[in-house]
Amino acid sequence: MQTVHTLAELRTALRDLPDRALVPTMGNLHAGHLALVARARELRVPVVASIFVNRLQFAPHEDFDRYPRTLQRDARLLADAGCDLLFAPHEATMYPQPQTFRVQPDPALADILDGASRPGHFEGVATVVMKLFQMVQPAHAVFGKKDYQQLLIIRRMVDQFALPVAIIGLDTVRDTDGLALSSRNGYLTPKQRAQAPQLQAALHWLAGQLPAVPTPAALQALEAQAMRTLAAQGWAPDYLTIRRRNDLSAVGSGEAPNRAPLVVLGAARLGGTRLIDNLEV
Ligand code: PAF
Repeated sequence: MQTVHTLAELRTALRDLPDRALVPTMGNLHAGHLALVARARELRVPVVASIFVNRLQFAPHEDFDRYPRTLQRDARLLADAGCDLLFAPHEATMYPQPQTFRVQPDPALADILDGASRPGHFEGVATVVMKLFQMVQPAHAVFGKKDYQQLLIIRRMVDQFALPVAIIGLDTVRDTDGLALSSRNGYLTPKQRAQAPQLQAALHWLAGQLPAVPTPAALQALEAQAMRTLAAQGWAPDYLTIRRRNDLSAVGSGEAPNRAPLVVLGAARLGGTRLIDNLEV
C-alpha cells in the first residue's frame, strides 16, 4: 500500500486506480473502519482510504486537539486489510487557505439531533467529504451507519449535487457486549467502558416499547422515560428518539410503524465522552 500526503502525489497514484472506492476516516482505526475497507474490497475495485482529522467539524470546545493521531499504526492496519492507497493529507493540503466556501446541508436534516447538540458539525462534515470526493474522485464511497445522520446528509448531498459516486452504508460493528465501536471509546475509563453498553440497551428498550400505532405524545413519553433511566445511571443524554429513517423526522400521529421504516437514535455523555448509537427498527 502506498501512502501519499499531497494532492500532486495523490493525482499521480490515482492514475493506476480506476473505478476506485473511497473509505473516508479520521484515523485511530478500529475493526469498524476495517469492515468498511472489507466492504469496499467486495466491489473488486481499488480501495483508497483517507485519514484526516477535520478541524471544520469540531466546535472550539470539542476534542480536535486530543483526537488520537495514530498514522503509522493505521497505515499498517490498512495495508493488512488490503487497502491499495492511503491519502493522509496535511492540514495545508486540505485547507491551504481558510475554507470560506462551504457546503451547507439542509437545516431540516443538519440542525436536528447531533446538529442541534453540535452546531456547524454537519457543515464541516459535508464540506470535507465534498472536498475528498473532488480530490479522490471515487466511483464508490463507504460509510458506517453508526453515524446515521451523517450518512443521510452525505446521501442527500450526493443526490442534490449529482455527484458521480455511489454511497454504501455499512452496519455498525459492535464489541461483544454490544457497544458500537468508536474511536472515542478510547476516552472511557475502565468503569465507564463497563457501563457504556447501557446506551445500546436504552435504544433496545425504546424499540421494544414502540406501540403498534404510535402517537407523538406516547413516543415523547417513552423517549423521556428512556432519557430519565440513562440519566439515573449517570449519563447526560442529549437525545433518545424514534424517527423515520428516510429523513429523521418525527413519527406522525397514528402512523403504523410498518408504513415508514424507523430508527431509534441516541446520543449521551458519559463523563467527558459523548457516545452515539442507533438501531433500525
Ligand atoms: O465519520 C468520520 O470519520 C468523519 O466524519 C468523516 C466522514 C471522515 C469526515 O471527516
